Amino acid sequence: MASVATTQVFKQDIFAGKVLLCTGGGSGICRGMTEAMVRHGAKAVIVSRSKDKLEQAAREMSQATGGEIIAVAGDVRKPADVENAVKQTVERFGRIDFLINGAAGNFLAPFQNLSYNAFRTVIEIDLLGTFNMTKAAVEHIKQAKGAIINVSATLYYTGTPYQQHAGSAKAAIDALTKHWAVELGPHGVRVNGIAPGPIGNTVGMDKLGLGFEVESIPMQRMGDVQDIAQSTVFLFSEGANWITGVTLVVDGGQWMNPNYIAYPAMVLTPPQGKL
Ligand code: HXC
Repeated sequence: MASVATTQVFKQDIFAGKVLLCTGGGSGICRGMTEAMVRHGAKAVIVSRSKDKLEQAAREMSQATGGEIIAVAGDVRKPADVENAVKQTVERFGRIDFLINGAAGNFLAPFQNLSYNAFRTVIEIDLLGTFNMTKAAVEHIKQAKGAIINVSATLYYTGTPYQQHAGSAKAAIDALTKHWAVELGPHGVRVNGIAPGPIGNTVGMDKLGLGFEVESIPMQRMGDVQDIAQSTVFLFSEGANWITGVTLVVDGGQWMNPNYIAYPAMVLTPPQGKL
């Protein structure tokens, strides 16, 4: 069975002097992505709505890594908030090299249980949030000849049931990855995506893992936050200097074998109420 990579794969200081801005960096996958970047020398700013959780995460990561991480509370749906996050980052650290657009909302919802507002909410957090944050930060990233990673998902590759809201947001995010790669490439900025598979011990997996079986993953294990962290370090590193416009699927092959055990019952007689 495949093992999880350690944090020692890449050289320690490859991001010394660089600055990362990460939305959703207070928890789960994006926290792991941030911590890995800091372990390799970057300074970081994490952004999300819940101020207390965010500040605690920044403290814990600083203690664990000995690096500098600050928390800026904000809602990626609000232009004023993303502009404030950029301002705070530049005031504190002087530049922005890397941006991770990771803030996302999701839940399982059969079509008839998905309200107008629920669909719009996820599109606004995931898609508009990705646009807003990048719009606010892009001139700084161009100055630094930096790079962007958009966190995506494989949900729409196979039309995953109960996930049309997140799937369509991520499909549009993948489009932005390509548009920005083309438009920002001549400025020296690379833009890529990472589409994580099922990652253990995350809110996403707790909420979305209904009926999921590890045996359906070709590599025969759950993903670990480290799997995504290592891919992040690679895509931001000079080793990926000619890679742009790509969404890297990091899922042990899971999307190619989407065995929904309860299909079609789950679409013909879906559960009522919120899942
Ligand atoms: C149906 C739901 C729902 C649910 C919320 N809504 N949860 N509908 N089932 N479980 C509806 C609400 O009823 C409301 O519609 C609308 O969505 C907005 O909800 P609010 O709570 O008012 O909005 P908000 O406070 O902005 O928060 C929405 C949210 C939050 C971000 C979706 O509920 C949430 O889930 N937060 C956790 C973030 C999270 O899950 N992160 C991990 C993402 S993992 P009405 O009509 O009632 O007004 C991920 C990975 C994907 O993205 C791929 C993995 C493989």
